[in-house]
Amino acid sequence: MSSSSSAMLHTSPLRRYALLASNPPASTSYSTRAMAIELATLPLPASADASKFADFGREVKGVNLGSLTEEQLKEIQELLYKHDVLLFRDADVTPEQQFALTKAFDPTSAVYGHGNNKTGKTTLSILHPDLKTIPRVPQVQLIGNGMVYNHEGLAEAKLKHPHHKTFHKTHISDEDEEKGATRFYRWHIDAALYDLSPPKVTTLYGLSVPRGGKQVCRYDDGTGDELEVPLGTTAFVSGRTMFEILPPELKSLAVRSKVRYAPHPYVWMAPAHAKSTGLGIENEGLEMSFDDLPPWEQSKVKTFPILWKNPVTGGLHFQVHPCGVSELIVDPLPADAKKTGNELYPDGAHIKDLGAVRDILYKMQRPAIAPNLVYPHDWHEKDMVLFHNRGVLHTVVGAFKEDQVRAFHQCNLAASDDPIGPSEEDIKKWA
Ligand SMILES: [Fe+2]
Repeated sequence: MSSSSSAMLHTSPLRRYALLASNPPASTSYSTRAMAIELATLPLPASADASKFADFGREVKGVNLGSLTEEQLKEIQELLYKHDVLLFRDADVTPEQQFALTKAFDPTSAVYGHGNNKTGKTTLSILHPDLKTIPRVPQVQLIGNGMVYNHEGLAEAKLKHPHHKTFHKTHISDEDEEKGATRFYRWHIDAALYDLSPPKVTTLYGLSVPRGGKQVCRYDDGTGDELEVPLGTTAFVSGRTMFEILPPELKSLAVRSKVRYAPHPYVWMAPAHAKSTGLGIENEGLEMSFDDLPPWEQSKVKTFPILWKNPVTGGLHFQVHPCGVSELIVDPLPADAKKTGNELYPDGAHIKDLGAVRDILYKMQRPAIAPNLVYPHDWHEKDMVLFHNRGVLHTVVGAFKEDQVRAFHQCNLAASDDPIGPSEEDIKKWA
């Protein structure tokens, strides 16, 4: 049975979208046949709490990503903001097409999310070893693991899957790793967090995907939490869920707060070590002094609301890249707020103590990376994943051996604007 006829038999989880090319002018040769986009829920692992993923993630079927019609593109954009992660299987997409698809979400964006300048002192950035550019389309990066030859104009590229040992304060023993234990590497948003605006979408295309046994991602934070994951998964959590599961006093704090990122945050944090959950930095005082950073300007430092408003659903997503934050700025409660006595910082605050800032953010973000709230994508070759970079946090997971060759194309573009925070009504509702 074809997937479309099975879709007609089962009302859920498949929904059918029939998009007709609307009234094509008589002089053109547009086809008027139905171009159907079909949606299926993503296959959740047994660990996931399905009730928390009702709107999260969809597989999109029935489109050719390399040649989308205007109508399909519009529909896909809306679907991305509604569902945060979209999967297209068996996609055939060139780097040029991937760039065009990514750019379609923000037509005036042009440079890679971290910029294209990899010279000078920015080579100190912790991201530097992970990024290799496709020469023809410098906005598309080749990422993965192992040696790749004659790839899209690159004679050879040595790729290295990021390993938690290079970033976390504590490490899994070689013996446990041999048995399949691993960690979340670094929960993040794809964003420079200095000068450039956070990309709206990231496109991630799996070209070569080594198959292997499951690994067990350990949190190692005293909770005993762990999560079985496919080898080399990309793990996602919803920023909307991150906000929704908070108790009222932390919702109030989130809706009133902004974070200020350090200048050149990836250079600043380079000497520091991450927590065992990959969700922020340990307080060891190892960050670089602002005076030792590459030249920077106050006007390019980024201060963002903690909550970013979804342009389609109006929902609020808790979008903080915890590693790069240096300050927390809290607005006072609105004058007419009903007080319960539990409010945090009712008169507002500007918190510059790094330990305090990190403790507050961790308290708010850690609940959302609980094993039952994580979607670990099980990659297959030719999977194209689009994720709403302003609506989710994600992380690399796992460890490969040197001979396990993984090659992915990744693209995101520094956006043409900064994210929008909560509206006045949002603040009224949640503060
Ligand atoms: Fe990323």
